Amino acid sequence: MKLVSLQPEMEAAYADFVQDFTAAGEKVMPGAAGSSEASFTDYLRHLERRQRWEGCPPGIVPSHLYFLEEGGRLLGAIDLRWELNERLLHYAGQIGYGVRPTARGRGLATRMLGMALEKVRTRGLERVLITCLEENRASARVIEKNGGRLEDCRSYDGHTYRRYWIALSPQGRVTDGSGSLQGEIQ
Ligand SMILES: CC(C)(COP(=O)(O)OP(=O)(O)OC[C@H]1O[C@@H](n2cnc3c(N)ncnc32)[C@H](O)[C@@H]1OP(=O)(O)O)[C@@H](O)C(=O)NCCC(=O)NCCS
Repeated sequence: MKLVSLQPEMEAAYADFVQDFTAAGEKVMPGAAGSSEASFTDYLRHLERRQRWEGCPPGIVPSHLYFLEEGGRLLGAIDLRWELNERLLHYAGQIGYGVRPTARGRGLATRMLGMALEKVRTRGLERVLITCLEENRASARVIEKNGGRLEDCRSYDGHTYRRYWIALSPQGRVTDGSGSLQGEIQ
């Protein structure tokens, strides 16, 4: 099981991944894993562009979408945003993920986030902000099992978000007890 970037030869596997959400009556999560492009080739180009500042529209930061792959099947997807802006800082966070409905409840999201954190650490980030809707207990557990420390809950647009920090280096550690940050966000 590994994290992979989407490749041209993965079109059928991607269609199968999307179909799993559709059959369950769900939108593909994370949102970036649901293509709104006219073709798979266009979608691959779109994913490539959004990795660089010059390819990002205003208000969007560079990000990389990975899929959790096993035996040619795509089981989940995780979107890593390399920077924070106001919207991400207050409620959206830096990492979004989803597991295909028929593969849930087997610990995959917990493993996928753990693997993604290694990529973020390699990139040199000291800590990362991850949020989830207050009522999303499964997602909260995934974050907590990967070392997430709750800083606070914030409301936006009628929803309440739990905001967690995960330290990726000693410098990024949060203080005991309150969950508050030791320093300012870089
Ligand atoms: C949230 C989500 C990613 C979890 O994926 P998953 O692979 O089923 O998660 P895991 O199997 O790693 O389970 C993680 C924990 O959540 C718990 N959990 C799973 N489903 C749950 C549910 N419906 N209610 C409460 N807890 C649940 C598990 O028991 C486990 O906790 P435990 O180890 O204490 O038992 C998946 O449900 C999903 O894709 N949901 C839609 C998209 C989404 O909400 N993404 C997160 C946005 S922040």
